[in-house]
Amino acid sequence: MGYKVCVVGSGYVGLVTAACFASRGMEVTCVDIDKQRVEKIRRGEPPIHEPGLEEILAKVTSDGMLRATEEYAEGMDGADFSFVCVGTPPKPDGSIDLSYVASAAEAIGRNLHLASKNHTVVVKSTVVPGTTSGVIAPILESSSGMKAGQGFSLAFNPEFLREGSAVEDTFNPDRIIIGEHDEGSGQRLLDLYREFYGNRLPPFMVTNTVNAELIKYANNAFLAMKVSFINEIANICQRIPGADVEVVAKGIGLDKRIGPLFLRAGLGYAGPCLPKDLSALVNHARSLGYDSLLLRAVQLTNENQPYQAVLLAKSLLKTLRGKRVALLGLAFKPNTDDVRGAVSLRLVGMLLREGAEVVVFDPKGLENARKLLGTEVLYAGSAEECIKGADCCIVVTEWDEFRKLRPEDFLRLMRTPAVVDGRRIYDPKEFGGKLMYAAIGYCPLSR
Ligand SMILES: NC(=O)c1ccc[n+]([C@@H]2O[C@H](COP(=O)([O-])OP(=O)(O)OC[C@H]3O[C@@H](n4cnc5c(N)ncnc54)[C@H](O)[C@@H]3O)[C@@H](O)[C@H]2O)c1
Repeated sequence: MGYKVCVVGSGYVGLVTAACFASRGMEVTCVDIDKQRVEKIRRGEPPIHEPGLEEILAKVTSDGMLRATEEYAEGMDGADFSFVCVGTPPKPDGSIDLSYVASAAEAIGRNLHLASKNHTVVVKSTVVPGTTSGVIAPILESSSGMKAGQGFSLAFNPEFLREGSAVEDTFNPDRIIIGEHDEGSGQRLLDLYREFYGNRLPPFMVTNTVNAELIKYANNAFLAMKVSFINEIANICQRIPGADVEVVAKGIGLDKRIGPLFLRAGLGYAGPCLPKDLSALVNHARSLGYDSLLLRAVQLTNENQPYQAVLLAKSLLKTLRGKRVALLGLAFKPNTDDVRGAVSLRLVGMLLREGAEVVVFDPKGLENARKLLGTEVLYAGSAEECIKGADCCIVVTEWDEFRKLRPEDFLRLMRTPAVVDGRRIYDPKEFGGKLMYAAIGYCPLSR
């Protein structure tokens, strides 16, 4: 081993990448502008929740293999690689905000003279096609006074890890995609990955930067389309007595051309990636004079999907005015504390507009949600406390601990035992026989 790596941005992508690299013998420095985050990492405490990260981080910080700093000069000193892992959030119009990436590139460029010869800058942040070569390369060149391909190398390397299994995904990715800005940058990055993965190097593909940038967007757009597709089928199933989208999904998933993954009907896709990446692609296409009707339909379907939970709750209770509604789950998916773009946040707004009182619980996302929801809702310390005295419970995130609740728990604790299963975690036959139960994509033979 022995690569020296600077990772810029210590969020879900940057910190997990940094910790995993360090755990396999690379000397890693995390650079972040968030002082509190840097201090936490220095103490070996992850500022985000990801299964497995705590243990790895504690080890690599105490071994001295991973350090954290606010100073680019410290991170770039002698570094063979720098990985740009800062956020690329959406602007209010849905287009991509490249200001964090631009500012990271400018600072990397300013400190490139401190790095090792043949330094390779690797962009992992998701950026619209043309950004690596058209925006980042010129910034690096003007702030460093060097030419990409001569003084340093540049590549785009999209990240496909999933929050909630980011560590696992980093050690076992489906593939590695590399977009080369200058010849040789791909080979250098592959050398690093060969060291990291040893004889288990995943399938890889080296292409130009725009194709690699597009692969990331097309990938997420396809996944979003699959989710919106099965949600459309679910909404149709809900209106056909005897229909169950779970059964339908299983049946179509057996077709090799379709496959079983990403066919779970629910309240829509969410989180910090799929919605913003789809918006960025739609906006980018529009800026090029192309109106993507299919991708806009995927977005529209997804925006409407959380309202299905309100409709199902009203089908059980007639009205939600004055009713206490318990939301089980705030994080955008299980095993993460991330609530960015979560369905729960939109659902809260819808329920409040219906006149309901809302009480929420999430095993990991409460703290982050509190920053956004403030005093609009009541907060419970456990699932049981959340449903206690409620008139309706909506399952928003499929945490394992919610699966353990039995019909008897709802009967014992709720004022009115009405459950809306927004993520299909309960058996409709068992629950439907004992309580008022409605689920996405499920229509009993007789109500
Ligand atoms: N989160 C995911 O599941 C995921 C998956 C694949 C790709 N991505 C992409 O990876 C990128 C990072 O996503 P994330 O979720 O890790 O972001 P994040 O918001 O969790 O972390 C970004 C970090 O960058 C830091 N930062 C911002 N500007 C900086 C600067 N100029 N210098 C140094 N640090 C700076 C922030 O303080 C923060 O700690 C995004 O482009 C995202 O689309 C994310």
